[in-house]
Amino acid sequence: MNSYITASVFRFDPDKDIEPYYHEYQIKAEERMTILRLLNYIHCEIDPTLSFRRFCCSLYMCRSCVMKINHQKSYACFTEVKPGEKVIIEPITYPDLHIKDLVVKLTDKEMIEL
Ligand code: FES
Repeated sequence: MNSYITASVFRFDPDKDIEPYYHEYQIKAEERMTILRLLNYIHCEIDPTLSFRRFCCSLYMCRSCVMKINHQKSYACFTEVKPGEKVIIEPITYPDLHIKDLVVKLTDKEMIEL
């Protein structure tokens, strides 16, 4: 069985990139994990330049983790991926309200329309 999760992550730093791109990360995993945990692992172990909102309320309330996961608006703290799967992770909006990588300015509209 393939024990790797492949994450294709939207990257764009307006201070240094000319245009957005997707960076593909291979993460060895023995069990399913949430997208937020996956991003934390990438940030801590592979690529500290990746930007996303790291705060986790664990209460399904703050919505700071909302992003597009496989093209669907989802909660990164609850959506899971398992070994052998590929996941595409993108900000909930681009280019409007985009700040860097997966971080966007959260407005009431973005918070409500999930
Ligand atoms: S981290 Fe609060 S809802 Fe996901």
